[in-house]
Amino acid sequence: MSDLTGKTIAVLGGTGPQGRGLARRFATAGLSVVIGSRGAEKAEKVAAELAEATGGAVTGAANADAAAAGDIVLVVVPWDGHKELLTELKPVLGGKIVVDCVNPLGFDKQGPFALQVEEGSATQQAAAILTESTVVGAFHNVSAGCWRTLRSSRSTVTCWCWVTSGRRPTWCRRWRTRCRGCAGSTAVVVAMPTRWRRSRPT
Ligand SMILES: NC(=O)c1ccc[n+]([C@@H]2O[C@H](COP(=O)([O-])OP(=O)(O)OC[C@H]3O[C@@H](n4cnc5c(N)ncnc54)[C@H](OP(=O)(O)O)[C@@H]3O)[C@@H](O)[C@H]2O)c1
Repeated sequence: MSDLTGKTIAVLGGTGPQGRGLARRFATAGLSVVIGSRGAEKAEKVAAELAEATGGAVTGAANADAAAAGDIVLVVVPWDGHKELLTELKPVLGGKIVVDCVNPLGFDKQGPFALQVEEGSATQQAAAILTESTVVGAFHNVSAGCWRTLRSSRSTVTCWCWVTSGRRPTWCRRWRTRCRGCAGSTAVVVAMPTRWRRSRPT
């Protein structure tokens, strides 16, 4: 695994529960984090809370500025905003590692369901748009609450392993089966009664 020392992690949509959770862990692990939002003020407020909670280096900025500041950029927005955000930020994301955490899910009275995506999955859509970036899909099935409760060592290793290395992890190459399947299985997990989804991610 390559050294992440001195790297800055940007979290686009970092004001939501999943982005905050990931940011918390990266900050706790000693990395610099920039929270991204559609509103810079909102990002700054969340960043200040996380900085206080972790004692880490967390700042906030508008998504475009956060993307520009990040060496590794996490995309943690709802599916609805995915394509538009990545298309807008394509120039600034060129040459960076982009970690796509987005699940294309719909919700109705019966709960969550997987949406059909022309490209196959959110990660494949990201890769189709961000042709100048290295796109990785990760964290699709780790719920936001886990980032608070996991023991620090385990979540730190998870973060460091999955964000990786400057090269694409082998298990991400099969996007069609991995990421598409992940999004569908996320709907299954989210719809499960809480007592059945207590197992820890490994
Ligand atoms: N929550 C989980 O447990 C979990 C687990 C695994 C994966 N995920 C995936 O992670 C992603 C984020 O989940 P979340 O629960 O954190 O979602 P969320 O709270 O609905 O959204 C996260 C942030 O995205 C921004 N946002 C909302 N709509 C947007 C749009 N149309 N365009 C651009 N930005 C928008 C908002 O920030 P601003 O208003 O500050 O811009 C919001 O705080 C989703 O794709 C989800 O499938 C979530």
